[in-house]
Amino acid sequence: MRLFLDHLYVKAVKERHGFALLECDKALLTKKLYIKTYGCQMNVYDSDRMADVLAPLGYAPTDMVDGADMVILNTCHIREKASEKVFSELGRLRQLKERVADQQGRCMTIAVAGCVAQAEGEEITRRAPWVDIVVGPQTYHRLPELVSQIDPSSRNRIIDTDFPEEVKFDCLPGEHAPRGPAAFLSVQEGCDKFCAFCVVPYTRGSEFSRPAKKVLDEARRLVASGTRELTLLGQNVNAYHGDNGSGGVWSLGRLIRALADIDGLERIRYTTSHPLDMDDELIAAHGNVPQLMPYLHLPIQSGSNHILQEMNRRHTRDIYMAVIDKLRTVRPDIAMSGDFIVGFPGESDQDFADTLALVSKVGYASAYSFKYSPRPGTPAANVEKQVPESVKSERLESLQQLLNAQQFAFNKNTEGKLVDVLVERAGGRVGQMAGRSPYMQAVNFIGEADQIGQIVSCRLSAARQNSMKGEIINMKVAV
Ligand code: 5AD
Ligand code: SF4
Repeated sequence: MRLFLDHLYVKAVKERHGFALLECDKALLTKKLYIKTYGCQMNVYDSDRMADVLAPLGYAPTDMVDGADMVILNTCHIREKASEKVFSELGRLRQLKERVADQQGRCMTIAVAGCVAQAEGEEITRRAPWVDIVVGPQTYHRLPELVSQIDPSSRNRIIDTDFPEEVKFDCLPGEHAPRGPAAFLSVQEGCDKFCAFCVVPYTRGSEFSRPAKKVLDEARRLVASGTRELTLLGQNVNAYHGDNGSGGVWSLGRLIRALADIDGLERIRYTTSHPLDMDDELIAAHGNVPQLMPYLHLPIQSGSNHILQEMNRRHTRDIYMAVIDKLRTVRPDIAMSGDFIVGFPGESDQDFADTLALVSKVGYASAYSFKYSPRPGTPAANVEKQVPESVKSERLESLQQLLNAQQFAFNKNTEGKLVDVLVERAGGRVGQMAGRSPYMQAVNFIGEADQIGQIVSCRLSAARQNSMKGEIINMKVAV
């Protein structure tokens, strides 16, 4: 019966050529959708959009996998560990699917989305035939159609990992649910840089920038629904070159200036960037757009020129340092963050020492570091001079010690400062609220639930490794 109603409903939606949903439809078809998201912020954004796409079919998000009618694993392929996690989760889901079918006579739909789906679609259906749908990052707007094609009586599994002609973003409905005070907004996707270790150019495809008008429209809708801070997303977000609607192209810096004109949008951030795409307009924006927060995630991966070359990063450490110098000239308090890979093939003790020296020179407020993980299909995976696992572990430990010390020093240095905090949610303890400082520090303070969505003035009173304790000084009315 349910399946029959689904088919009818999908047909009705198609006939209407839209996603407008009648209240009676909603009541009839409320089903539970559980999405588990792995990996980067881009996946977090995509998961929200998958929920938007499925809402007209009556799927409402749930936090409980047990009662879900549909489970989507939105996966990450960046390192081996991330991919393997998906297969172990699929093992658990098989048991749940069987139990639900036996005990409740219910059919739970399982979908695998994201970069593992893109890279290993066939392998997923071979190793986990209980998966109903495999859908890539560029085709999830087709989920309603794919769901309608499920036929439990057939052994055929649906795989859609195209890089389609149609632009995914044009086929997505408007945001269905408010995204909260701090939201992600995807402006760019894919990458043409082809770093030798990275799967992104293969799983996400080549660079694409959304037209500026579409970004601004989405931003306005989010702000109207209560969002105060937007993080602009892209695998290579500062390579943004979006159609400006009058025959020209806007850079990210220009886009940020236009976003800053939106009333009620108090904060703008962007991630992730490549040093070569930090153009003058973007750097200038850090100095003259007050809404652009003084924090930048700018990965370098290694401090050794030799390794940077082997990685095909196309920049040297001097180029990276010059960008940071320019940023600090226009915005002296900017908090720097980065990504590092240790144990890239051929990395010597000296190369690694160069990384430690670069880290000492920059002084990071936070950073992410990883052991090199050979990814099938990427150039570095076939290089013979792989670094032994034990050496990678030792190097990771000493790098993380240094980065942790820098993070704590950064936090300590902000003790006593008065900063604006955007209140995002209740904190971990009773009476506590949590938000972020302009420098991306998590700040916990005693406050009230009705402060969520407000920007409050906080005195940072005590530094921790990964957060700050704060005290509200007064409320600042967010306009
Ligand atoms: N091994 C380890 N880390 C990787 N990253 C990307 N590919 C790999 C890999 N093969 C890291 C980079 C990148 C971050 C998102 O993940 O540091 O910036
Ligand atoms: Fe991967 Fe970033 Fe390099 Fe692109 S620039 S290949 S996303 S690490």
